[in-house]
Amino acid sequence: MTTSPPTRLALRGDLLDFTARPGWAQLEDPAVRFRPDHWLLIEADGRIAGVQAEEPDASWTKRDHSGQLILPGFIDTHVHCPQLDVIASYGAELLDWLNTYTFPAETRYADPAVAKFGAERFLDALLAQGTTSAVVFPTVHKVSAETLFEAAAARGMRLITGKVLMDRHAPDALRDDVLHAERDCIDLIQRFHGRDRLAYAVTVRFAPTSTPEQLAMAGALCRADASLYMQTHVAENRSEVDWVAQLFPQARSYLDVYAREGLLHPKAVLAHGIWLDDEDRRVLAASGAQVAHCPSSNLFLGSGLFDWVAAREAGYAVSAASDVGGGTSLSMQRTLADAYKVQALGGRRLTAWAALHAATLGAAEGLGLQQEIGSLAAGTLADVCIWDWAHGPVAQARDAVVRGLHERVFAWLTLSDDRNLVASYVAGQPCYQRQHP
Ligand code: GUN
Ligand code: ZN
Repeated sequence: MTTSPPTRLALRGDLLDFTARPGWAQLEDPAVRFRPDHWLLIEADGRIAGVQAEEPDASWTKRDHSGQLILPGFIDTHVHCPQLDVIASYGAELLDWLNTYTFPAETRYADPAVAKFGAERFLDALLAQGTTSAVVFPTVHKVSAETLFEAAAARGMRLITGKVLMDRHAPDALRDDVLHAERDCIDLIQRFHGRDRLAYAVTVRFAPTSTPEQLAMAGALCRADASLYMQTHVAENRSEVDWVAQLFPQARSYLDVYAREGLLHPKAVLAHGIWLDDEDRRVLAASGAQVAHCPSSNLFLGSGLFDWVAAREAGYAVSAASDVGGGTSLSMQRTLADAYKVQALGGRRLTAWAALHAATLGAAEGLGLQQEIGSLAAGTLADVCIWDWAHGPVAQARDAVVRGLHERVFAWLTLSDDRNLVASYVAGQPCYQRQHP
């Protein structure tokens, strides 16, 4: 019996990615790599072999997407799997929102069947939005992390997650304790960290829901293995910041609660970072940690306006994140369009380049994963998405009159969403295909 050789895939379209971080407010930028009507070559092992203008030979299986946009898959650096159930919940700021909507929804994830269904639905929803990698909060329940890891492995996705740590200021059904939590983390790290495309993140929900002893345990885990990620929330909302100051009077600031425990390091992802001062920014930059900017969530929960320029001046990385269910869409275009509006409210303008970079190569670099994801560079895994430049009469009319590449991509970012997504590939394998024309 003969076996057919594994398929080598060639995708034709308008290829867009970045080779470096674009400047701030720079519309013409050498970091932007646009190769219209080129072929993206994907080897049978799922890695990008290269890009060429000429049609490849017959050894390649060809898909002609000429006239469509091909981007690296988006990376969402902060999103909550169980919160699809509370997305778009009315009328509350952060602390009320957590107690009223979020904690009750997360309680249900103690049930393995709910956790499994929720993990699969969530990852398929990400793929259907063009997001191929994510840094994810599950719940406090060990099974919620297990099911996410298993579901991501089944889809071949790059996923970073870890059981949420919270041993106080939460309902009984959502509290762990230091000893059991440590045991669960160690077991999950041994089983999943570094397996397939999975990595473990020590996941401190936020300072108020962990005792000092639990924060110390989380810090010890990070110190014991520098390859572990750490994810948490910081300085999102003013009432939250005041509460942290009461709970940790010895800390100089909210960020300092984490710094003292060794939780700030190059693999740390801190969501929000709105209410920081200059010293916090200096500490963040020195630590190598990145901030996941969550504009949709910040607007929806009324948390505040993120100062992206201050972050750039201080020198720490900023990536883009949906923060669903505080955020109201898994779409990274919607997220980035909101990021533009947040900067506009501060009198600044976010280019399409700075925005897109923060959801692709910039996010990958912040995670230390630029050799694997975030661009269309040869050797990286082919996590790629194909998009219509315009969907529907309004976007099509706008696209017909654009002058120049930035204008076209900016209009695309502002007007597009999951209706534009034609197909998603993870490591060269199709994982989403649009059904409607
Ligand atoms: N702070 C602590 N938990 C959460 C959460 O689930 N969402 C947001 N936006 N902020 C938080
Ligand atoms: Zn969050």
